[in-house]
Amino acid sequence: MNEKYHEKDPMSDVISDDYRILQIISRFGIKLGFGDQTVEATCRGAGVDVNTFLTVVNYVKDPAHARISEMAEQVNVPALIAYLKNSHSYFVDFRLPGIRRKLLEAIDLSTGNRLAMLILRFYDEYAQEVSHHMTFENEHVHPFVETLLQGRLPVETFRNIEEQYDEQHACIEKSLTELKNIIVKYYPSDNSAQLMGEVLMDIFMTDEDLHSHCHMEDTLFAECIRRLEHDVRQKGGESTLPLPTDEKAEPAGTDLSEREKEIIVQVAKGLSNKEIADALFISVNTVMTHRRNISRKLQIRSAAGFTIYAIANGLISLDDVQL
Ligand SMILES: [Fe+2]
Ligand SMILES: [Fe+2]
Repeated sequence: MNEKYHEKDPMSDVISDDYRILQIISRFGIKLGFGDQTVEATCRGAGVDVNTFLTVVNYVKDPAHARISEMAEQVNVPALIAYLKNSHSYFVDFRLPGIRRKLLEAIDLSTGNRLAMLILRFYDEYAQEVSHHMTFENEHVHPFVETLLQGRLPVETFRNIEEQYDEQHACIEKSLTELKNIIVKYYPSDNSAQLMGEVLMDIFMTDEDLHSHCHMEDTLFAECIRRLEHDVRQKGGESTLPLPTDEKAEPAGTDLSEREKEIIVQVAKGLSNKEIADALFISVNTVMTHRRNISRKLQIRSAAGFTIYAIANGLISLDDVQL
């Protein structure tokens, strides 16, 4: 097909050209069975903004060459928000629970396999992190944009929200990559190689899908928000009450100190912050600061993630892990 999809292309040809468009169609609420209709006719029939649909599919087809500024002009922001919300439901309510069901079939929990239990715990904490992030977007970012769409200026600026956005995207993407690596490198799937292969395929595809979703938010959606905010400012929009925000990102830096490694080992052994503070003769606040710094450096937030990191890097043996 062409380099880009156009409104007169038959919808069935677009799907045959790139099967990933199937997911986009369902997230826009378009049902299959459109016969030989064009993209334009199918979208109109489903009450979907044609330009927004085309912008999203062309972005997914070739994100590296996406002209974000031009694309942002074509987008109907409420239609894009509806698409992103449906994508969140897809990940949180359908995709991630589906992977968990397959993971449960593939790993061996019956014999108290510690690594299997850690992988499952890591996955559950990861799914919770994705859900937390998408709830943050649904409850804070989207209402922020909806306020702008009403011509009002929230006291919170997008620049402020953007920091959390970037940090959370980096975390959820890194965690899934970590999970893939842990399973591939360390999980011996003796009797369930096929099942584990299936789960890994699902995880790889979800990783790609989630990366595309986050990347679109970081670029196209962010550009739409910046433009809206700029327009409302130009028109002298009224300020509204501040929106709640999460913690701010911390400064850069990557190497773990010896003290931080000690903290990771204590967390892997199952100690609470208070117990770690007592064991290392430091305050609970200092432990919490160390844990925040470690999370920032490793892009790992969960205790299960710390534990797997500690095992994978030889800081602790699997036998010392508290389950
Ligand atoms: Fe999102
Ligand atoms: Fe996001």
